Amino acid sequence: MKIKIREIGNPLVRSYVLETPLGWIAVDTGYAGGLKQYARRFCGFAPLRELKFAFLTHAHDDHTGFLGELLQTAGARLVCSEKSVPRLAAGINAMPPGTVYLTRTAALLSGAIRHRALSPIIPNESAIIVRNEDDQPFLALGLPIRILFLPGHTADSIALLLEETGDLFCGDAAGNSFLAPARQSILVEDFAEYQRSWDRMLAVNPSRILPTHGNPFPPEDLVRYRHFMDGRKRIPAKESNSR
Ligand SMILES: [Fe+2]
Repeated sequence: MKIKIREIGNPLVRSYVLETPLGWIAVDTGYAGGLKQYARRFCGFAPLRELKFAFLTHAHDDHTGFLGELLQTAGARLVCSEKSVPRLAAGINAMPPGTVYLTRTAALLSGAIRHRALSPIIPNESAIIVRNEDDQPFLALGLPIRILFLPGHTADSIALLLEETGDLFCGDAAGNSFLAPARQSILVEDFAEYQRSWDRMLAVNPSRILPTHGNPFPPEDLVRYRHFMDGRKRIPAKESNSR
């Protein structure tokens, strides 16, 4: 089954959209205020009403910035982790105890990361809330698209694997931007889980990894950099938004 991949964001924050026989699937949205440009670019491929699903990899503001507006404008169905639901409702980037920054640059940006508010979203009755990998709404619809649970960067991190091509949209479970070396994310809530999620990505044998931040990269990079952070100093996030 042919699933076309388009990218309508920018190198810092990718916005992938997938054309399937059942309509289009958005993988996250960018920062708040981006809907107009996003819709203009999307409409270069199809009318916005053909966007049927908006898949959320996790509830950080650079992924949910105009998600609520997009769901409403397109009439699309939200697909997200059960653990994203309270984070979406809270309207602020979660920063649970134990969260660390992996680089000094990221720590310097911490104020911007911490205090950036999300637009609160309460999923409506059409939303598809996934609890674990037994929940596979796209496979159930006949689309060869598998949801993977990749906690660590955040507790609610999930990803999409195109089963026929091996393309893995990993959200922030790994990255490829100048802000963090070695395919790391800049912020990690649980480092042990984060490393296990790298193992999980390798276990599904992807052909390439498509992170939200930066360009796609080969899965061999995960092997190469799997132990990059072992023994390195991680910088604790000093405050906590969680109670
Ligand atoms: Fe993130």
